[in-house]
Amino acid sequence: MGKDYNKVKHFVFICNGKDCKKSGAKDLERAISSDLKSKGLRDKTKILKTKCTGRCKEAPIVLVNNHWLADVKMKDVPDVVEILIK
Ligand code: FES
Repeated sequence: MGKDYNKVKHFVFICNGKDCKKSGAKDLERAISSDLKSKGLRDKTKILKTKCTGRCKEAPIVLVNNHWLADVKMKDVPDVVEILIK
């Protein structure tokens, strides 16, 4: 069964353009998903993949609420999730 969209309160956009993929967008997606799960937020959050956002030199790019995050590293994942629930 698919996600119950009535429960979705948060959105995370992860760039999946060529440069962001090369810079680890897939691993970031998995890590963000797992961090959300461990905090009980996975069902409330939809992760969406975007096309290139035009900031390839700062890849990988993640958008959370109104924050446009550049050069996101695996160690930044807990902070990304914190921004999401602020
Ligand atoms: S590939 Fe992600 S900003 Fe261009």
